[in-house]
This record gives sequence, C-alpha cells and structure tokens, in this order.
Amino acid sequence: MEKRDELYAGKAKSVYLTDNPDELILFFRDDTSAFDGERIEQLARKGEVNNKFNAFIMEKLAAAGIPTHFKSLLSPQESIVKKLDMLPVECVVRNIAAGSLCKRLGVQEGLDIEPPTFEFFLKNDELHDPMINEYHIRAFGWGTDKQIEAMQSLTFSVNQVLKALFAEAGLLLVDYKLEFGDFHGEMVLGDEFTPDGCRLWDAETRKKLDKDRFRQGLGGVVEAYEEVAHRLGVDLS
Ligand code: ADP
Ligand code: TMP
Ligand code: ASP
Repeated sequence: MEKRDELYAGKAKSVYLTDNPDELILFFRDDTSAFDGERIEQLARKGEVNNKFNAFIMEKLAAAGIPTHFKSLLSPQESIVKKLDMLPVECVVRNIAAGSLCKRLGVQEGLDIEPPTFEFFLKNDELHDPMINEYHIRAFGWGTDKQIEAMQSLTFSVNQVLKALFAEAGLLLVDYKLEFGDFHGEMVLGDEFTPDGCRLWDAETRKKLDKDRFRQGLGGVVEAYEEVAHRLGVDLS
C-alpha cells in the first residue's frame, strides 16, 4: 500500500489517499481543538494515544457486528481505513447530562438521562455545528431516510457495546459523537472514537477524563486519555 497526496486536513487529523481507491490513511496529529477550531494547541503524544485508542475501540465495535471503516494500524500515528463518502452530520447520544445539553435546556450536569437521547448536528464549524433534525437532513439532501435510520440504530448499538466496556473499566460513558459515511451502499462508522469526541468520567469520583479537561483548562489532558487507555487495556507501546 502506497501513501499518496493529502486529501484534506481537518482540525486534528490529516487524510491521505493511497494507491487503493477504496482506502485512505488517517494521520492523528497532536493538534487539539476546542470551540469549533477557535482554540488549537499541540499536546505531545495525543496523536499516538488517540490512534491506538481508536483502533482498540473500532475493533471492539466490529467484533460486536457494527460496520466500521477501520482496517489496520499503519504506524504509531496512522491507520488504514475504508474511504467513505461522509455525511455532513454528527450523531450524539447522551447517557448523562453535560455540555451543550445543559446550556440549551438548563438541565443540571450529571443528571442521568434514561432513556438516552439522540441528537443530530450539522458538521459546519462556521455555523458552530447547529443542532438539526431528520427533516433538515432529508430536505437539504444530507442523507436519505434509510441512512438516517441506519445512523440512529448504529449509534444506539454503539452505546450498548461501549457503555458496558467502559463500565468494566470503572468509567461512565457520559456522551459521544459519531460520524458515518457510505461505502458502496452501506452506512459505515467513520472518523474516530477517542476521548476527543466523547465524555468519560471516573465512575466513583466523576473526575473528567476526556477533552473537557482541555475545553475547561483543567490540565492533564493526555495523561487522562492514557489513564482511560490503560484501564481498558489498550496497548500504547
Ligand atoms: P474535523 O473535520 O472535524 O476538523 P478531523 O481533524 O478529525 O475533523 O478531520 C478528519 C476528517 O476526515 C473529517 O472531516 C472526517 O469527516 C473525515 N473522515 C473520517 N473518516 C473518514 C473516512 N473513512 N473516509 C473519508 N473521510 C473520513
Ligand atoms: P456537546 O455537549 O458539545 O453537544 O457535545 C456532545 C458530545 O459530542 C461530546 O462528547 C463532544 C462530542 N462532540 C464532538 O466531539 N464534536 C462536535 O462537533 C460536537 C457537536 C460534539
Ligand atoms: N466541536 C469540537 C469541540 O468542541 C471540536 C472543535 O471544536 O474543534 O471540542
């Protein structure tokens, strides 16, 4: 497999074409972004930790029957993935109230959400990722009915698998964001699952072990990601 031109560079990852039209290389940089790219800092080791963390989680999801883009680790900061036609939407499931939900609805942080909620957001930094619903997705051609259904059902399936996985490691999966894309007619989980795109709290102390440490200036960001990885048994060597 040969690495070719850069296809695009996002806020935290760069994407490269390969000699296989169905495969890409994702390069996990050390860049850490918050507030839709308003604040970006380099955090040593974050790219490598996230690349290995993501590989571990994607393999668990695939083993549970969820179609993912992940193929294999290529290097400490790179993975080979299926090239998807990404939908410009983000799927968020919440088990515990935090973040924008608290601001939007005046709900207290830490409240259990039962049953969990599902929200769509438009992936658009300039517009600050506004919340949208199924009608917007259909009306503006961002996805079909079938794709909407698949995204919702796969995002909830991920919740079942990962809530249990994190619980075994003494962690609460507070909420998370997923992105999907089309691969030859099938909806497939793309992008990443790392502490950059979810909230994880220690089950006993409720200490934040995710990107909120960066957003809120709490420090020890990569150390927290490494602690989570260690508890899950992710090989960071
Ligand atoms: P952002 O776009 O939010 O700044 P990143 O820095 O993580 O995010 O950039 C990675 C980009 O690669 C995102 O736009 C994401 O949608 C896209 N992407 C992720 N996985 C795939 C894939 N398998 N095929 C095509 N594009 C992908
Ligand atoms: P929110 O509380 O800011 O809406 O975020 C909910 C979850 O989704 C949280 O774990 C962070 C994640 N998320 C991203 O990673 N990127 C995004 O652009 C959005 C909107 C959410
Ligand atoms: N929307 C994500 C966050 O709040 C990513 C970003 O803002 O760059 O962290």
